[in-house]
Amino acid sequence: MNMSRRTWLKFLAAALAALLTWPLAALETAPGANAIASAHPDATAAGREVLEAGGNAFDAAVAVAAALAVVEPYSSGLGGGAFFLLHRAADGAEHFIDARETAPAAATADMFLDEHGEFVRERSLNGGLAAGIPGLPAALVHLAHQYGKLDLARSLAPAIRLAREGFETGPRYAMMAGYRAAALRASGTADAVFLVDGEAPAPGTRIVQPDLAATLASIAADDAESFYRGEIAQRLVAGANAAGGIWSLDDLATYEVRERPPIVGRYHDIRVVSAPPPSSGGIVLLEALNILERYDLAALDEATRLHVVIEAMRRAYRDRADFLGDPDFTDIPVAHLIDKDYADWLARDLTLDHATPSSSLPPVGAKPEGRDTTHFSVIDAAGNRVAATLSINTPFGSTVMPPGTGVVLNNEMDDFSAAPLTPNTYGLVGAGANSVAPHKRPLSSMTPTFVEGPTRIGILGTPGGSRIISMVLIGVLEFAAGKPPTDWVAAPRYHHQYLPDVVQYEAGGLSAELAAALTARGHTLSEVGRNYGNMQAILWDRASGKVEAASDPRGEGGADVWP
Ligand code: DON
Repeated sequence: MNMSRRTWLKFLAAALAALLTWPLAALETAPGANAIASAHPDATAAGREVLEAGGNAFDAAVAVAAALAVVEPYSSGLGGGAFFLLHRAADGAEHFIDARETAPAAATADMFLDEHGEFVRERSLNGGLAAGIPGLPAALVHLAHQYGKLDLARSLAPAIRLAREGFETGPRYAMMAGYRAAALRASGTADAVFLVDGEAPAPGTRIVQPDLAATLASIAADDAESFYRGEIAQRLVAGANAAGGIWSLDDLATYEVRERPPIVGRYHDIRVVSAPPPSSGGIVLLEALNILERYDLAALDEATRLHVVIEAMRRAYRDRADFLGDPDFTDIPVAHLIDKDYADWLARDLTLDHATPSSSLPPVGAKPEGRDTTHFSVIDAAGNRVAATLSINTPFGSTVMPPGTGVVLNNEMDDFSAAPLTPNTYGLVGAGANSVAPHKRPLSSMTPTFVEGPTRIGILGTPGGSRIISMVLIGVLEFAAGKPPTDWVAAPRYHHQYLPDVVQYEAGGLSAELAAALTARGHTLSEVGRNYGNMQAILWDRASGKVEAASDPRGEGGADVWP
């Protein structure tokens, strides 16, 4: 009897094990298809060209990033920075390349304050002082050498062609160039390239960038040696400083990309892999998800669900302001912040029927110790993955273009906290952890992310300043609810960033009924314009074998899947 019972138990255990491993056995180990979603069809085509030439997803990332620098000159570029999250199929290893801009050596904590200690926003947004030392060229070289299969020159070829032969502008270009026309006119060089007769050109205009083509060709030929240590470096320093900057040749010569371990956590049965500091993205995303995991979101009515998500955003963004900055300069209690027990503590005063005023949360910095950017996602047939978010900060960055380079310098210095609790252009506040210091990287919200469910793998990210993290959070919740990537990129958006203490939502994003329900709970609502975000996402369903890619309907992106 005993014996047969043991046998029976053994049989049960074996059956259970088989049942548990059966779906795994049926899962694909490689997608067998390639996919790219980027903010511009020409950039997606550049990546496809390089994959079809025998490259892998990392070569494609070089091609897409370089092409975006040409066709989306308002979003990212050689004069800016980027984060690349990588998954290598061969060994399953995950890498995060931090190519964030650094402050020049001559930067000081009060460089954006006037003689009365008041923040002068103009200085951190326009002209040479606004520009950090660029990281993207170094990242392209690093990606090609450490991860790619092709020569850097092969992967840069489509971008060089687009710069030399020109690309055709669309409505988005007209909007961005119109928005920055005055600053571009003041630049003295960028206007000749990006405007026609001093005005934003009508859609359908061809923009040719011979200087940028030459700079890209130089990077292809000498692995960015001239860009960081040669003739191009001299032009960059001269141009930045002629526009009021404080760059030195040494700032460029000593620039290095950093590899950092990604932030990894779990939300129910989903593994989340995302951006570590100097991005705030991964930590804020996981803090919010950890709070949300305590609730059965699917069982809540829509207004209560939105309320809970907003309250999670509020608490996670408070910690951004308090703790986060460049990890090379600030000790960040990462493990504590993404711990589930800490989420319980954060949620201790979260009620389902009332907004928690941000002013009732612990104040930032109380401890004595003191619009534009771009994202793309790639997967190749072998299963290599890239999630990359790239930026020069606001449209056309600082609008400084050092003569003879074709390079638009960023205005990423505005991402620093210029003074304690003084909002930057996204309304974000910070304290000492994100103050300006020589060689320091400004805190970012860019959140390139992988999500890995039992059978589905997702790749996502978006531009959108401070709202990047809340958009990625909403995208991850859509993924967790089993929705397809067309839903992640299209989902109506809402946002809370601790301060200001308001719920921002995109025009048309909240029904009157939902808005009333949130107001009744004590939330202050503020409608912000459409055109908020430009998410680019990929889903690989390992059970069905299907690969899908989706571009945000708010943008003009290109999503392509091919065998
Ligand atoms: O790194 C950051 O957080 C910002 N520089 C990103 C800027 C951005 O997304 C602008 N887009 N609308």
